[in-house]
Amino acid sequence: MMKDERKEQKRKEAFRKWARQHAKLRRNLRKHGGDILQSGNFKSTNSFIQHGSVSVHSHSIRVAECSLKLEKFLEKLGIHCHERDLVRGALLHDYFLYDWHDKYSHEKLHGFHHPHVALENASREYQLTPRERDIIQKHMWPLTLFHIPRCREAWVVTTADKYCSLKETLLERKGRNKNRKKSENHDAKDTG
Ligand SMILES: [Fe+2]
Ligand SMILES: [Fe+2]
Repeated sequence: MMKDERKEQKRKEAFRKWARQHAKLRRNLRKHGGDILQSGNFKSTNSFIQHGSVSVHSHSIRVAECSLKLEKFLEKLGIHCHERDLVRGALLHDYFLYDWHDKYSHEKLHGFHHPHVALENASREYQLTPRERDIIQKHMWPLTLFHIPRCREAWVVTTADKYCSLKETLLERKGRNKNRKKSENHDAKDTG
């Protein structure tokens, strides 16, 4: 076999592996958070920008996926998480339901206050477990100094949130509208 063909075969195999893993992540999101993903309020977060060109909707899904990847990594070390709480808490961690770039849409400093608003909104619509509450309320630590995560699921989500936020802020500014449209269509199709 030619060198180029081998390279092409490897590339295809890597893509197939990625596609299988991605499909599995999306299945787990639907399994644990199908009702959230289908809800009108969650879908409405598509119209709010979170970081760079990424909507709150896409950001929340990415944080949930990243949390699942971290969970799998921890599992290999013998550390186990409650997967359902992890996914649901991650999907709802930024459930503040307003455009934080609009200074008239909220009263207090968004960075400090939005976990509290997200918790209030989520509690109104869902029966939250203590772990889910911890995830939502503490995900901005260390910014919210005295709200330290108390369960490992909250530590996982706060780590995933920081990683995704940094990536979105630094790498997804260019082609704002084009990328945003592409990402929203993809997430809506995949989770809807
Ligand atoms: Fe947040
Ligand atoms: Fe977030």
